[in-house]
This record gives sequence, structure tokens and C-alpha cells, in this order.
Amino acid sequence: MSKTSSNAPLSQRADMTIFLNGEFIPADQARVGVATHAISYGTGCFEGIRAYYNAEADQLYIFRALEHFERLHRSCKIMNIRLPWTAEELVDLTVELIRRNGLREDCYIRPFAYKSDEIIGVKLNGLRDDYTMFVVPMGEYVSTSGLRCMVSSWRRVDDNMIPARAKISGAYVNSAFAKSEALMSGFDEAIMLTQEGHVSEGSAENIFMVTGGELVTPPPSENILQGITRDTVMQLARREMEMLTRERVIDRTELYTADEIFLTGTGAQIAPVVEVDHRPIGSGVVGQVGSTLQRLYREVTHGLREEYASWLTPVYPARTAGVLNSNNGHHAANDVKPKRSKQTAATK
Ligand SMILES: Cc1ncc(COP(=O)(O)O)c(C=O)c1O
Repeated sequence: MSKTSSNAPLSQRADMTIFLNGEFIPADQARVGVATHAISYGTGCFEGIRAYYNAEADQLYIFRALEHFERLHRSCKIMNIRLPWTAEELVDLTVELIRRNGLREDCYIRPFAYKSDEIIGVKLNGLRDDYTMFVVPMGEYVSTSGLRCMVSSWRRVDDNMIPARAKISGAYVNSAFAKSEALMSGFDEAIMLTQEGHVSEGSAENIFMVTGGELVTPPPSENILQGITRDTVMQLARREMEMLTRERVIDRTELYTADEIFLTGTGAQIAPVVEVDHRPIGSGVVGQVGSTLQRLYREVTHGLREEYASWLTPVYPARTAGVLNSNNGHHAANDVKPKRSKQTAATK
């Protein structure tokens, strides 16, 4: 039976396995204290990772898993969270998690490293850290056939407020304000500006525009999360379309006159924007650069392009010859013993 067939919340699912405190346990047995620091104060870092199912190969490919866990390590460094596993070990634990759930459909993996002490007190030092991870089946996060966006009245958090380069759970309140404003105003998604009024990113996506035959995106200093899909798009554009990406500051009204705009993210994938603030982008339909990148991205993520096999971690042992069932040594999935975090406040 497909795991999608139940609409029950994960916390009521005895048939799903999650990873918590160093152990794989049934999802309905997972317990997190109501006084947990990260719940009160947003003191956690997370990742969002997709795995894509290729029915012909009967294989599930985790996309750029290692890069996601390397970013999680960087986020944790900024947040003073100690992770007892290397990025490679976290990839292996993810493979194990998906296998234990037996998922054979597109899914989304949510790792979360967080301040777990049950105390009152706003700080990052001297606290216990924990780690959890779950996987759920997932289709589209936003439409990939043409989004209507508004420039948000909410500004993007600055590096000296909550650093956007770290994927900090508390920072997503900023995204939630912007996204809700957009939805409640009849748009699909928000585009956020920096304190200086330059284009930063979407609520959970990076942004690209095509203008004068160039691909342009804001640089990391514009308070963006340096997206793995952003990097993927830059590499695909260069290798497959001979288009270099210029990272430069973008003004709000440059969006209005762009030939194409698209948002990128693990959740959003490649989502073309057809309207910003009631102005049609280009001719108001999905553009050629965006649709070509969508096709390439679909092929790469589903294991149809041998030359990008190093970006994929196959979950299941190979069954079919001639399809991508090896990860070309990028990262071989091993058996990793889930270890419990032994840290206490005294050891840190
Ligand atoms: C704020 C923000 N920007 C950008 C992205 C895109 O990052 P990635 O492509 O690594 O998923 C995300 C999604 O994770 C995000 O939450």
C-alpha cells in the first residue's frame, strides 16, 4: 500500500519510521517535550531534501544529499549546534530511513538539528543539541506552470539579525509573514527585498531573471540562502545551454521588465513566474529558458542523465541494468550505526 494513502498526521502513523535521538522509531512513538528550547525560540537548523522515483529503474534517487548535509553542518556551526554525524554519515542514515519506510515515490526529507534542553532562557551556548529526521511523500510545493508573485511589504532578515545563509527554523517566521501576505492578497508567492530595497529571494526559493540574454541572480551578500537548486541551475545553464549566470544586485523594477523570471528551490524545483505586482513578465507565459531548465532538471533528478549521476544517491540496491543505479563513487551508501548524541551542557 502506498504511504500516500493515509492523511493522518505523521505523529499518528505507526507505519512510518522516523529518526529521533539516535534511534529509528515508529512515528507515533516520537516524543518531544513541550518546553523544548527550539519550540519556544526557533533555535534549530533544518534541511529540505527531495528524492525522485524512477519507475523504470524502480529506484529512488536522493538529489544532492551530501551538499544538503554539508549546508546543515554550516548552519549548525553558525547556530552553535553540534552534530555527532558527518555529512556522509547523515546521507547513509537518510538512505536507511527511506528504506525502512519502503517509499517508492517522490518524497521529501526533513532533517532538523536543534537546541533540545527544556529550559526557559534565550541563548545558544551551554545547551543540549538533538537531531531528528523524517521523510514524507511529496508532489509539487508551488505550481511549476506559472506563478503570480508580489513584492512583499516584509523585508528579508539581514545577516546581522538572523543570517539567511543558515537555514534557521526561527527565520522562517519572516518567510511565513511574506508568504501569507501574498496568499491572502491573491498571489501565489512573495518576492522579498533586502533592507536596502534590492531583490533578495522568494519565501523559500532563490530567484533568477533573464534579461538582455543573460541569466542574473542576487549574490550571497543579498541575504539569500545559497540554494542547492540555485547552484544546480547555474551549472545546467552553463554546461547545457552555454549561459553564464551573473550574480549582481537587482532592483525591484528590473523584475517588471525582465524577459523571464523563475524561482528555484528543493520544494519549488524550477517555478517560472509569469506576473509580478500585476505586470506580465515577458509575454506573460512560461519562457524558453525556464522551460528548458525544467526539462533538464527533471531528467537529471530522475537519473536519466549519466553525466550528473554523481548528484544522485540511489536508495535501493540496483535491479535493472542500463539505468543509473550507481552513484559513481560520489558517496557510497554504507551501513551507519545511529549513535545517540552524548553531549551535555557540561561537555560543551
Ligand atoms: C529561504 C530559502 N531560499 C532558498 C531556498 C532554496 O534552497 P535549495 O535550493 O537548497 O532548496 C530555500 C529552500 O530550501 C529557502 O528556504
